[in-house]
Amino acid sequence: ARRSLLVGFGGYLPDRIVTNDELAARLETSDEWIRARTGITQRHIAGPHDTAVSMAAAAGARALDYAGMAAADVGAIIVATSTPDQAFPSTAVRVQAELGLRGGFGFDIAAACSGFVYALSMADSLIRSGQVDSVLVIGSEVYSRILDWSDRGTCVLFGDGAGAVLLKAADGPEPGDTRPKGILSTHLHSDGSTGDLLYVDGAIGLRESSGFLRMRGRDVFRHAVAKLSSSVDEVLHANGLTYADVNWLVPHQANLRIIEGVARKLELPPERVVVTVDRHANTSAASIPLAMNEAVRDGRIRPGDLVLMEALGGGLTWGSALARM
Ligand code: ACO
Repeated sequence: ARRSLLVGFGGYLPDRIVTNDELAARLETSDEWIRARTGITQRHIAGPHDTAVSMAAAAGARALDYAGMAAADVGAIIVATSTPDQAFPSTAVRVQAELGLRGGFGFDIAAACSGFVYALSMADSLIRSGQVDSVLVIGSEVYSRILDWSDRGTCVLFGDGAGAVLLKAADGPEPGDTRPKGILSTHLHSDGSTGDLLYVDGAIGLRESSGFLRMRGRDVFRHAVAKLSSSVDEVLHANGLTYADVNWLVPHQANLRIIEGVARKLELPPERVVVTVDRHANTSAASIPLAMNEAVRDGRIRPGDLVLMEALGGGLTWGSALARM
């Protein structure tokens, strides 16, 4: 059977950093409130030249570079984003052009903060089915453009950025290989009846809508803890593994309290959890690949490690993925 190996990692963060104190200078909020409720201390915010396409292309190029692979070898590009620069062409085909890739195909996925797990799942399916031999999976988000900067309940929570993971097909595992590498399984869920808990008000060209993100934070929090708990059980159970087998939790970075809740359930000590939310805030579909990129490049995540990824976002959408590095 074919499997998808994780062979490249890349990230891009805008230069401009906005601290909690900067937000507190223009809103009724404080560094203490934001830190205590979310763990966030700062976020990167897109400059005039940072777009969903430019950031995705930068992260994608770095992932190719890490793997020592040429763009021409990429069979497909999938970009998870809720903040595309335009309705169409998709972010992915713009990235294809930026990378100088003429073959293959690309498309976007909209699953809000779960977008990267969704994109990883689609990419793994394309590889397993034999349709392509490699997929560049990217999350790229410019939430600063859909935030209501007068709403302290939401604008303090998000940041901009992009992350990329390159998947490559491999055959196997060999008989008797008890620790096969690559993506072991992915599990996706959505429940559209909870769509009003977290949504963007309006669409391109729609009158009398703000185009801003709206959220019922308490309700999202409650769903996140319950659904992410069942997601981590689901992915481990599906692979006949237990909490003790997990080397790293690489969660979607929404909020430190949600991350700590899942880590406690997995009985994982904090040093086995990759956290970027303190410096990046919530970068939605970009948060997991940005965290993967950081922890692989600084040597925390090593070959052979079992990595559990999970996310929940607007939709509600949620899901999990398990990979052996
Ligand atoms: N600064 C100061 N006060 C604030 C701020 C702020 N930035 N934001 C809200 N408050 C106030 C509220 O107005 C409210 O005041 P009131 O009691 O006078 O009405 C008070 O703080 C409590 O508000 P709550 O919304 O009940 O605060 P809560 O403890 O639930 O924390 C938070 C809010 C951090 C948003 C929390 O609900 C949460 O983390 N939810 C998860 C949502 C999330 O992470 N969403 C990200 C997208 S989805 C995802 O990625 C999982």
